[in-house]
Amino acid sequence: MAILITGGAGYIGSHICVELIYAGYDIIVVDNLSNSNRESIKRVELITGKEIVFYQIDILSQNDLETVFLENSIEAVIHCAGLKAVGDSVKAPLHYYQNNVTGTIILSKVMKKFNVKKMVFSSSATVYGIPEFVPIRESFLPRPINPYGRSKWMIEEILKDLHLSNNEWSITLLRYFNPIGAHKSGLIGEDPNGIPNNLMPIITQVAAGKLNILQVYGNCYPTVDGTGVRDYIHVADLANGHLKALEKTFNSSGVEVYNLGTGEGYSVLELISAFELATGVRIPYKITQPRPGDVAACYADPAKARQGLGWRAENGIREMCEDAWRWQSNNPDGYLSEEAEIRC
Ligand code: NAD
Ligand code: UFG
Repeated sequence: MAILITGGAGYIGSHICVELIYAGYDIIVVDNLSNSNRESIKRVELITGKEIVFYQIDILSQNDLETVFLENSIEAVIHCAGLKAVGDSVKAPLHYYQNNVTGTIILSKVMKKFNVKKMVFSSSATVYGIPEFVPIRESFLPRPINPYGRSKWMIEEILKDLHLSNNEWSITLLRYFNPIGAHKSGLIGEDPNGIPNNLMPIITQVAAGKLNILQVYGNCYPTVDGTGVRDYIHVADLANGHLKALEKTFNSSGVEVYNLGTGEGYSVLELISAFELATGVRIPYKITQPRPGDVAACYADPAKARQGLGWRAENGIREMCEDAWRWQSNNPDGYLSEEAEIRC
């Protein structure tokens, strides 16, 4: 019996692959490589010494998905496949709803047909929109403010309805906060297309000299130093959260939602300082206008995941910075880089 990981070639999915293989699971990966590279799977094979069954397919193709379920004995699905750029989702909402929502409906139909009723779903803290206060608990009413966030919220609701229709379904919804960092080997990490949108890949590209300067979006928020505060979580800790969630889906039925965050917020300036301290590399920055749609502070109350999943984030901000920098330094052009070295 194997675990199917959709979007397994992506940033988070590739780290989940490593975590599951180390835990002894057989895995199958499907990914259309729309935002990733086949090389990430090869690197996972290099790290783990295990060959991965990989299908380059789109989850929108019911026929292709059915072939995967026919050819393999699948026990549960970790569903990470999705588009994730907030700005793109505003420009192309139908594309986002089609890919994320319709893709999940098709996947769920195929799972139902093959009697696979266990799923762990990649949701996002973005479903909370602008929180009234922090830390954010799972009981807060979701109020997403862009199509990407709404696609995640719609999927959560659809999966809840699926369970209502048949209580054999066991579904865990994981709302990630801000994943950063990379595998300790420096072999897999975040490989954004073009100029990144998120803070940590921008910091590492400034550190590497690929970008000139970091723009800090606003310093007048009601936070410790006026810059935006976020709950950064090491991607390896996030991957471990999926392992715990998977174990939970095996031992229960129902739908549960968990925040995956550290519970600690860092401002933009604090993250810059932490990176400089961890790596010895200076990050030039300038304060600019706030980015439209940004919230002042967003961090999790992770107590439910601690109690319900027996999970907590282990890595601190120093490890997150060190590991993000090792990945960037070893792979200046991401997965297109010539050679990679295993450092541990
Ligand atoms: P990613 O883009 O690196 O990975 C997503 C993968 O899904 C990619 O490899 C992409 O090629 C694949 N994919 C997309 N649409 C597909 C389709 N129709 N069929 C098959 N494959 C498809 O992104 P990530 O950061 O690894 O995110 C994984 C999941 O976690 C996404 O669902 C994302 O929305 C969610 N998430 C990410 C963050 C974050 O900050 N990275 C935060 C919260 C939630
Ligand atoms: N920031 C800058 N300069 C930059 C980029 C970001 O100052 O060049 C600031 C932002 O204003 C914010 C903080 O850095 O205060 C973090 O910004 P990110 O873009 O890295 O992350 P966000 O919290 O805005 O959003 C991310 C993902 C969303 C996801 C959310 C919660 O992009 O898709 O985390 O998981 F929903």
